Amino acid sequence: MSANAQLLEGVATNNPRHIAIIMDGNGRWAQKKLMPRIIGHRAGVKAVRRIVEYCTQQGIEVLTLFAFSSENWRRPKDEVSLLMNLFMATLQTEINRLHENNIRLRFIGDIASFDAKLQAKIAAGVVQTQENTGLTLVIAANYGGRWDLAEAAKAIAADVLAGEIAITDINEDLMHQHLALADLPEPDLFIRTGGEQRISNFLLWQLAYTELYFTDALWPDFDQAALEQAIISYKGRQRRFGRTGDQVLNPTV
Ligand code: IPE
Ligand code: IPE
Ligand code: MG
Repeated sequence: MSANAQLLEGVATNNPRHIAIIMDGNGRWAQKKLMPRIIGHRAGVKAVRRIVEYCTQQGIEVLTLFAFSSENWRRPKDEVSLLMNLFMATLQTEINRLHENNIRLRFIGDIASFDAKLQAKIAAGVVQTQENTGLTLVIAANYGGRWDLAEAAKAIAADVLAGEIAITDINEDLMHQHLALADLPEPDLFIRTGGEQRISNFLLWQLAYTELYFTDALWPDFDQAALEQAIISYKGRQRRFGRTGDQVLNPTV
C-alpha cells in the first residue's frame, strides 16, 4: 500500500519509534525441553541479540526491554543468582558489540540494589555508549512502574519542600519529566511474549496510549519474523488518542 493510501485509512504509516517489550516465557521454554530454567534465560539473551539487530536495521529509535522486575527478587534464590551472573556475563560480552553498532545503552530501575560489580559494569557500559547516535537500547532492570511513580512523587515533594516549585505547579508534564524515559519518545508499540496478557508492573504511566500486542511465542522463540508481525499489526491500527476516527482521517473536522 502506498504511504498516501495508508494515510487515507488513517492508520499508523510509519514504523514505531519506540518499542517496549516484556520478554516473557524463558522458563517455560526450557521446562518444555526438560531443561533447567537458566537454559531458557540464556536462549533469551540470543533472542535479545536478534531483536536488537533487527531494530537497528529498521531504524527503530528506542527499544526498551524488561529484563528483571522489582518483583522478580521473589524467585528462588538460585534463579535470581544465576540471572545476576547472566546479566554480568552478557554485559561483558555485549557492550563492545553494542558500541561498535553505534547503540546507546541505558538502564531504568533501581540499579542500587545490584551488587557493586554489576553496578560498575552497568555504569561503564552506559558511559562508553552515551555519545552513540543509533538505536537507544533501554534495559529495565529491577524496574517497577509503581517504583517509578513513587520516585517521581518523592522528587517532586522534595522540590516543593525546597521552595523550588509550588503544589499548583504539579501537573502531568511535571510528572512526566520525573519518570523513566522522560527524554525519549513515548512507547508506540508494547509487546509481551509468553502468552500472558498483563502489564506486570512494567511502564504504568508511559503505556497510557501505547498499542498493545500479545503473542503466545515464548521469548527465546521470538525472532525477526515475529517482530515483523507485531510491527505489521501496529501499522494497521488507527491511533485516536481520544479523538473520533473521522477526526483522525480528516484533522480539520
Ligand atoms: C522472563 O521469563 C524472564 C525474566 C522474568 C527474568 P520467565 O523467567 O518469567 O519465564 P516463564 O514466564 O517462567 O516461562
Ligand atoms: C515480567 O515477567 C518481568 C520480566 C519479563 C522481566 P514475569 O514472568 O515476572 O511476570 P508475571 O510474574 O508472570 O506477571
Ligand atoms: Mg514469566
